[in-house]
Amino acid sequence: MRNRRAALALLASAASLALTLTACGQNGEGGSKEKPGDTKGATIGIAMPTKSSERWISDGKNVVKDLEAKGYKTKLVYGEDDPEQQVSQIENLITQGVKGLIIAAIDNKSLNSVLQQAADAGIPVISYDRLILGSKNVDYYASFDNEKVGRLQGQYIVDKLGLGKGGKGPFNIELFAGSNDDNNTRYFFDGAMSVLKPYLDSKQLVVRSGQTALNKVTTLRWDGATAQRRMDDILTSSYKSERVDAVLSPYDGISIGVLSALKSDGYGSGSKPLPVITGQDAELASVKSIIGGQQTQTVYKDLRKLAEVASTMIDDLLKDKKPQVNDVKSYDNGTKVVPAYLLQPVSVDKTNYEDVLVKGGYYTDAQLK
Ligand code: GAL
Repeated sequence: MRNRRAALALLASAASLALTLTACGQNGEGGSKEKPGDTKGATIGIAMPTKSSERWISDGKNVVKDLEAKGYKTKLVYGEDDPEQQVSQIENLITQGVKGLIIAAIDNKSLNSVLQQAADAGIPVISYDRLILGSKNVDYYASFDNEKVGRLQGQYIVDKLGLGKGGKGPFNIELFAGSNDDNNTRYFFDGAMSVLKPYLDSKQLVVRSGQTALNKVTTLRWDGATAQRRMDDILTSSYKSERVDAVLSPYDGISIGVLSALKSDGYGSGSKPLPVITGQDAELASVKSIIGGQQTQTVYKDLRKLAEVASTMIDDLLKDKKPQVNDVKSYDNGTKVVPAYLLQPVSVDKTNYEDVLVKGGYYTDAQLK
């Protein structure tokens, strides 16, 4: 790895080569002498955003397991959704001498200076699921096809309301998006809107709150309680005798919040059925909710595969091998297009959860009871 960086620096300029060598020297490890493949017992730092959502707990466990299987030690930290805490955690990992970093950012724009410290120490960085913006010191990106996640959510709503099959509407829909400091938010929203927009234009779908612009529908830190408050407000201000027919929700935690607001307003009883409501992550509570007929859909992303991709990327980089990628154009972080490996998301509802989640070994039937 360090060899690769030094070679790149040589191409760039003699001055930056000097800097690179100084940085290696400071490490006291004689960077250019390190043999590729000499990674036995190296420690990888893993920075995850929060333990408040089940998915990130699984991500942490999966990445640790995969790296340990490859012979690495690991240090796993959670930033409790506080960007400053995450920066200082990553600084600590660098000080502790980790040889690689896997980071799921809390605020995608807050890591510039800490990633410069990582680069100065010759530490490669994998952006995990959420793209880190504004820094050239992001080596690779492991994620899912995030635009497709949104398209699956939008298409589910269209199909469920029968819009593609002659259903005329109009149907009332409300839109929710993720955190404005997460790069994925825009991809999910744009994907969903690419499917919904024609029906909004033809007025077969109507957003009674009038809140359709991304900056009006985001949910800071993906917080379910924040989404619940917003849905409460919308129901009070825009739905007197009318009914909500669909809610675009980008993430299961938000769907649960929206459902609470709807249920408090009497939805879910005979004359007032719950609307179609999407989600993402196939979190246990949401899959149970789907089975119980409350949330309608979720987008399943196999986190076991994501962990495997990220761990293999860091292992390859440390062994001077080029990681496998399948997308070199979609993820421009403002300073470079970050080479990415994108996995495929799958739409899950009551009709296929057994096949996808249980037969796929993601959950057992007992867990879903
Ligand atoms: C996104 C991620 C989603 C969801 C959300 C909230 O970055 O892609 O799958 O987990 O964060 O945690």
